Amino acid sequence: SKYVLGILGATGAVGKETLDILDERKFPLESLRLFASKRSAGEVLSCQGREWKVEELTPETSFAGIDFALISATDAISREYGARLSAAGILVIDDSGVFRMEDDVPLVVPEVNRQALRSMPRRIVSIPNCTTTPLVMALKPLQEAAGIKRVVVTTFQSVSGTGAAAMDELMNQTRNLMAFREAKAEVYPYQIAFNLLPHIGSFNEGGDCSEEIKIMRETRKILEAPALRLTATTVRVPVLRCHSEAINVELERPLKPHDARAALAEMPGVLVYDDPSKKLYPMPLDATGKDDVFVGRIREDESTANGLNLWVVSDNLRKGAALNAVQIAECLTEH
Ligand code: A2P
Repeated sequence: SKYVLGILGATGAVGKETLDILDERKFPLESLRLFASKRSAGEVLSCQGREWKVEELTPETSFAGIDFALISATDAISREYGARLSAAGILVIDDSGVFRMEDDVPLVVPEVNRQALRSMPRRIVSIPNCTTTPLVMALKPLQEAAGIKRVVVTTFQSVSGTGAAAMDELMNQTRNLMAFREAKAEVYPYQIAFNLLPHIGSFNEGGDCSEEIKIMRETRKILEAPALRLTATTVRVPVLRCHSEAINVELERPLKPHDARAALAEMPGVLVYDDPSKKLYPMPLDATGKDDVFVGRIREDESTANGLNLWVVSDNLRKGAALNAVQIAECLTEH
């Protein structure tokens, strides 16, 4: 059978990637409904050889006939429309942080915890933050092979995670600085070109960023390890696409780098890209536009018992967002 898909936030960085992925994977589309703000109403986007007109999302919008809705717009849009769509019987796949930690909403990366889709009492499923997804893809096979005691992760996140306006800001600042002109910062609090910001989201009283808290909580939920010791530092870097992560893991039992490499190589959706002798290691430019989560620099951390270091790079607009959402829709069509 074929399905009617609604995309809320169709004109954004993730929305546009979603259209490409529906194309590539030949998702069984009956038709598409594309929604965005008034700014882009009337724009025409193409997918699967057909053209679709963008509609303005308003409280009066009718969603009748839609089977699945993918939301990747703003937290406010998810809050306002998520519950409305699911009340109308539509299966909602939401990319925001609004529902992720709710007990009756599964938080899913199909390769890791597809089974969580069996219980969707609210007809809402959340996809994780774009740094959590590659992290759990890399941790899951290590957890199964040797148990995880503690994780320390530092992220290097591209500006596309903030959206299309942030990508423009990085390009414009770079262009202006190269021409000895002023670089205006509007999306970020400081210049991002030729700089980095150890700050993603908002700070809490203890000094953690909301992005760091999301990674900790979401990872524990997805790996079903509520007591997992995990700490994160999240950094915005002047890269257009792909998030990178330096991951230090302390395992319960010994696991040689060779065996870690083998366990990771067997994980669907993970590509081991690790040969220092050939200068082969994951980089954002290589992972851009790719579905796989790239893992390299797999080596022992001798400062502790059963310690491992890894370097992970993943396209935040693909596996970190649009691809994971479309994969979930595919899982739900198979149910
Ligand atoms: P628009 O392009 O009309 O602004 P990004 O993450 O790249 O910034 O994209 C955000 C997406 O969410 C865009 O498609 C944007 O539409 C959409 N969006 C943002 N605010 C609203 C809103 N108030 N109503 C509907 N869509 C919105």
